[in-house]
Amino acid sequence: MKQSWLLLLTLFYISSEVSSWRIFRNGRMVGGNLGEPKCNCKESSIKEVQEEWFTQNLDHFNPTDETTWKQRFYSNDQFFDPKNGGPVFLMIGGEGEASIKWMTQGAWVNYAEKFGALMFQLEHRYYGKSHPTDDLSTQNLKYLTSQQALADLATFITAMNEKYSLPPDVKWIAFGGSYPGSLAAWLRFKYPHLVHGAMSASGPLLAQVDFKDYFRVIKESLATHSDDCVTAVQQGVDQIGVLLKQEIGQANLNELFKLCDPVQNSINNEKDISNLYETIADDFAGVVQYNKDNRVGSPAGANITIDVVCDIMVNQTIGPPVNRLAKVNEVLLSAYDQKCLDYNYDKMINNLRNVSWDSEASEGGRQWTYQTCTEFGFYQTSDYEPQIFGDQFSVDFFIQQCTDIFGSIYDEDFLNSATERTNTYYGGLDIEVSNVVFVHGSIDPWHALGITKTIDEEAPAIYIEGTAHCANMYPPADTDLPQLKEAREQILNLIGTWLAQ
Ligand SMILES: *[C@@H]1O[C@H](CO)[C@@H](O)[C@H](O)[C@H]1NC(C)=O
Ligand SMILES: *[C@@H]1O[C@H](CO)[C@@H](O)[C@H](O)[C@H]1NC(C)=O
Ligand SMILES: *[C@@H]1O[C@H](CO)[C@@H](O)[C@H](O)[C@H]1NC(C)=O
Repeated sequence: MKQSWLLLLTLFYISSEVSSWRIFRNGRMVGGNLGEPKCNCKESSIKEVQEEWFTQNLDHFNPTDETTWKQRFYSNDQFFDPKNGGPVFLMIGGEGEASIKWMTQGAWVNYAEKFGALMFQLEHRYYGKSHPTDDLSTQNLKYLTSQQALADLATFITAMNEKYSLPPDVKWIAFGGSYPGSLAAWLRFKYPHLVHGAMSASGPLLAQVDFKDYFRVIKESLATHSDDCVTAVQQGVDQIGVLLKQEIGQANLNELFKLCDPVQNSINNEKDISNLYETIADDFAGVVQYNKDNRVGSPAGANITIDVVCDIMVNQTIGPPVNRLAKVNEVLLSAYDQKCLDYNYDKMINNLRNVSWDSEASEGGRQWTYQTCTEFGFYQTSDYEPQIFGDQFSVDFFIQQCTDIFGSIYDEDFLNSATERTNTYYGGLDIEVSNVVFVHGSIDPWHALGITKTIDEEAPAIYIEGTAHCANMYPPADTDLPQLKEAREQILNLIGTWLAQ
């Protein structure tokens, strides 16, 4: 390989003590995977929605524990038409703060208007302002499970039926995207007498420790721009490996990738290096997962699409592939207002060990990591071959994080039994349900753990070519792909069919 490009790079580096919080980690966006909808609505049509609180049981599976806590929810009755048997629509909160914007925006609001539905959104326990315990100690997190969350939803439904004096045959329809997409299907599965149907978007139904297909889909999605993009990413990553081997190269990496800590200090620290490779891979994962959806999400980030990063990757004017990779990194750091690229493993672990509700990690990073370590796995490893992001973040790297954050019992055996237990409990991809629609997008890497083909007509799948994570949930836009528009229409028709039963 020609290495003249090494010499072209300059050699200064300003060391810094700045740390910055990872915006995208383990396939999860800060704030949760379902972004906030971008409003295409008339301001005047927006109803004022208030925060409300529901007294919830701490432990649904221990009748002798009478501890309760306050769970946040939102309601909107502006479309509710009880005289015509208006149904109730329930948006399930997930691995981030519940957003009030969803109460007046998004495809489900249009459905609610159509069917005269009463609308609720229940925030997931341990996320947002729904704090069941004083802190997030590992001991307290034992009440953070999907089973408890489903029981929260069931208790909530029962209570609202009573509060609103709803008739015994009232029909509840659940909506959820990402992890709540799984919850929506599981809610219908476990509580069919309470929930009549469910729209499950981008839900990973199969718990899996080594989710290596994630980066396979990322690669295939980048290939929708061009094979050259994929090749350039791979070459750029290979060049990082070359630079890491020599001191001059290490100094170049510091500068190119705006590393918060000089990589010379980490060169013998395998976990830092794994974290560096994984963070760079996540630059692309975050872009692909949310490509062109109608999400406001984090500032500016929503505008950075596969086309934007791939146009950079194939632009030879910028320099060799590693420089283009660095350019992508720079664009993302700047979009998310980050000063430098933080890949320090111990710093990350220390952040995630913080049990305070005031900590940065309490936005959901610690809680979601706990759920992956105890129920789901979902680790987006570099184990798929051939891999374009290097092979430095294997499954051990992620299991190590579980033990480092929560304790030594959360090891490989623990994770294997945990995911097996989850799949036994819910049925994984063999879940048997009716009146559920599974919706996925072809460029969303999470589709690899979901139901993308209709096996059972009572629980059909809609697989949308070319769309990203939860795309069908966001407010319709004129620029939407025709197949996305059609999917929203199909969902509307399915809900209509269920409600007529
Ligand atoms: C995103 O792109 C749109 C259309 O190109 C533009 O109007 C908007 O200002 C951009 N938003 C941000 C945050 O850069
Ligand atoms: C390629 O990068 C150069 C330098 O940053 C820029 O001026 C040019 O507009 C880019 N070309 C394309 C086609 O994006
Ligand atoms: C946890 O985070 C809080 C709030 O940021 C901070 O004040 C506290 O020092 C942190 N605790 C530890 C042990 O790092």
